[in-house]
Amino acid sequence: MILSILMKRKQELLDGMINSRNDLLTWMLAIREENQEPITRDVLIDNFIGIAIASHDTTLILLSLMMWKIARDPKIVAKICEEQMEIFLRKRRSGEEKLTWTDLQSMKYTWRVAQELMRIIPLVFGNFREAAKDLYFGGYFIPKGWKVSHGTQMNENIFENPKVFDPSRFENPSKPIFPYVYVPFGGGPHMCSGNDFARVEILTIIHHMITKFEWSQGDSR
Ligand code: HEM
Repeated sequence: MILSILMKRKQELLDGMINSRNDLLTWMLAIREENQEPITRDVLIDNFIGIAIASHDTTLILLSLMMWKIARDPKIVAKICEEQMEIFLRKRRSGEEKLTWTDLQSMKYTWRVAQELMRIIPLVFGNFREAAKDLYFGGYFIPKGWKVSHGTQMNENIFENPKVFDPSRFENPSKPIFPYVYVPFGGGPHMCSGNDFARVEILTIIHHMITKFEWSQGDSR
């Protein structure tokens, strides 16, 4: 499927109908390796699939979880609604239509719900790193080259009452949340490069959904 789109883009690029900024696929077609060769077709498709999964599936799952939570939890929905309606009415009064960066920054509670959902139900369940040298950690020997992954989100030394859904833990944590213990977007130099974009997408969609619709979970019988 991707190959046929790729061939079409390649021809359009050669014919000067589009430039490298047209879309991600065209940009990948246009870039050159250090030896000035284009990226091979297989590497390009592999990267494209990687990005499609990294960006689409993750955001989609978080959005679905938000919709699900809003359908089931009246207390949460009341607080999200209050926050979003305030922004909605403020914009209506000022005659401003589009959401701004400042509006998104003020959706603090809505984002905390998303953060708590990502803690309780991690979207990316494992995150591997390779041990650069032999090491001991927490009483275990980890040989150089081993792939290691860890789960922290249900650790009660880090999160009090970890099984309780409580978005406020990101507002006033009873214990400090140290770096690298809450890692829905990974961490370090390879931390998710789309994390801010995902936040913008989620908050924008939830804003429009909640200010225009009501929904509840139907009877599944
Ligand atoms: C809620 C949504 C998302 C979640 C939970 C998520 C989660 C993650 C995680 C856990 C990683 C691995 C980070 C690491 O190894 O330390 C990652 C990497 C990555 N994500 Fe996301 N992601 C999301 C949305 C997106 C979006 C929207 C994009 C692009 C538009 C994106 C692009 C990437 C890329 C390119 C990487 C690889 C970064 C690198 O290796 O340098 N992600 N993401």
